[in-house]
Amino acid sequence: MNARDICDLAPVIPVITVKDAAHAAPLAKALVAGGLPALEVTLRTPAALDAIRAMVDIEGGVVGAGTLLTAQDVKKAKAAGARFGVSPGFTPELLDAAEGEGLPLLPGAATPSEVMALLARGYETLKFFPAGAAGGPAMLKGMGAPLAAVRFCPTGGISASNAHEYLSLPNVLCVGGSWVAPGGLMEAGDWDGITALAKEAAGLPR
Ligand code: 3PG
Repeated sequence: MNARDICDLAPVIPVITVKDAAHAAPLAKALVAGGLPALEVTLRTPAALDAIRAMVDIEGGVVGAGTLLTAQDVKKAKAAGARFGVSPGFTPELLDAAEGEGLPLLPGAATPSEVMALLARGYETLKFFPAGAAGGPAMLKGMGAPLAAVRFCPTGGISASNAHEYLSLPNVLCVGGSWVAPGGLMEAGDWDGITALAKEAAGLPR
């Protein structure tokens, strides 16, 4: 499965930050049950790699690692079982590592020049980050004509209330967001609540 295939799975990729690895398996099951198979676990907490290891065997899930900043992060994510990677940006070292490890990568871009640098490396499916702050749907619309080959997964500042503004754009495949896996519901063990959020997100038209 390449980055494009992963973005095609559902309209929303949950961006998950896990504080307690014990939450990882029930969380993944709840999101997959709601219709969101592609899951991004951010490497922002000490529990993240254990969380990935706990999620990789959940039936129907495709678990990836986010917040990949270095070549070392790519190696750790791959070793934990991640099937794809996401980065807020890119460096040549990060791209080299992902290619070397055979890890499909959604690198981040927020400007035309960054998009062009990634196109030159062969990447046509990109994360647009931080989507809201970097110009939102208007910026993506503006990049659509000159950078026609590129498809985006915008992330950052997206919620149930504005996701449709992104998903209706022809150069948007899916969006990423943390709103479907809120810390409060995880702490409360409200997995049905998370499935309900996932169902709503999975039903968004694109
Ligand atoms: C990311 O890493 O993609 C973002 O932190 C997720 O952004 P959000 O919390 O605004 O959804």
